[in-house]
Amino acid sequence: MNILISGGAGYIGSHIVEQLIQKKTNVVIIDNLKTGHKKLINKKAKFIKANISNKGLLRKTINKYSINSIIHLAAYLNVSEAEIKKKKYYKNNILATKLLLESAKNTTVKNIIFSSSCSVYGNVKGAVSEKKKINPQGYYAYTKYKGEELIKKYSKKNKFCYGILRYFNVAGASPSGLIGEIETSHGHLIKNIAIQSLKKNPKINIYGHDYETKDGTCIRDYIHVSDLADIHIKSLVYLNKNKKSFILNCGYGKGYSVKDIVNIFKKIKSNVKINFLSRRPGDIAQVYSNTKKFLKTFKWNPRFNDIKIIIKSAIKWEKKLKK
Ligand SMILES: NC(=O)c1ccc[n+]([C@@H]2O[C@H](COP(=O)([O-])OP(=O)(O)OC[C@H]3O[C@@H](n4cnc5c(N)ncnc54)[C@H](O)[C@@H]3O)[C@@H](O)[C@H]2O)c1
Repeated sequence: MNILISGGAGYIGSHIVEQLIQKKTNVVIIDNLKTGHKKLINKKAKFIKANISNKGLLRKTINKYSINSIIHLAAYLNVSEAEIKKKKYYKNNILATKLLLESAKNTTVKNIIFSSSCSVYGNVKGAVSEKKKINPQGYYAYTKYKGEELIKKYSKKNKFCYGILRYFNVAGASPSGLIGEIETSHGHLIKNIAIQSLKKNPKINIYGHDYETKDGTCIRDYIHVSDLADIHIKSLVYLNKNKKSFILNCGYGKGYSVKDIVNIFKKIKSNVKINFLSRRPGDIAQVYSNTKKFLKTFKWNPRFNDIKIIIKSAIKWEKKLKK
């Protein structure tokens, strides 16, 4: 398999690349390093620093390396920023996805895997399944929904098979100790906890404590990044074997509130100070996954589905990063 991975110098992308390389796959990374990092680029992969909107270059790369599958992760993902800078998000998440798909037309590409998000569901009660009608609330969620639509449209026209993966909240770091989350601009809770864990006087901001949830804070389903990377490998194998497109939730099926997560952190750092702030624009109250379809499709055993392990691995990575 020759794989092209957009956003392969980013957090999740680098974990997928690590596992693909372990499986002796040929990997080409395209990344403009806007939120990606050189440190995360696997030396055994071919790296091209470019914007995915560069149709000519993408097409040339696909042909040169006889790319069979594209894993498309490149995007901006700050939920609050997306509300203010809609044009920026439109250009990078919607338009650039369209150009990437254009460049794969009439080439060797057979499969596309797309990083979507649970945010496309909007506010939901209980575990959400893939059958649930899409209801994106914020602009970031809207760009992901539009991305899904483009993937479906181009796949139908060009006979690609697609795998749309709706990630829930991704956290933790590879057990290899070589990669983890570096970027701080996305506003991720567990990354922030990891950063604060190294401080003498740690502080955590909680955005909104008046949501309609058990304790007033947002509820999310956290998945370990290495398990998520493994799902991409399984998806590639499935698409090559069955030639059948799919949409799947990627979460463990368990919701934790922000307070639940902070309480676990309190056991590690008892002096943590908590600031309650107002809600962040674009955030939804609660979302966690119904995993039935996923488990039926992949018969999968996660390796890291323990929230304490996820938090500890994020902290371990942060320590290494700051050494
Ligand atoms: N992290 C999460 O919890 C989460 C949850 C749901 C969905 N996602 C999706 O997963 C994907 C990867 O997220 P991540 O957490 O690894 O973030 P990330 O910022 O670490 O990775 C994104 C990568 O894409 C690159 N990039 C962005 N725009 C580009 C462009 N136009 N051309 C080339 N490269 C570009 C960035 O430089 C970066 O390396 C995104 O599509 C995101 O929407 C992430």
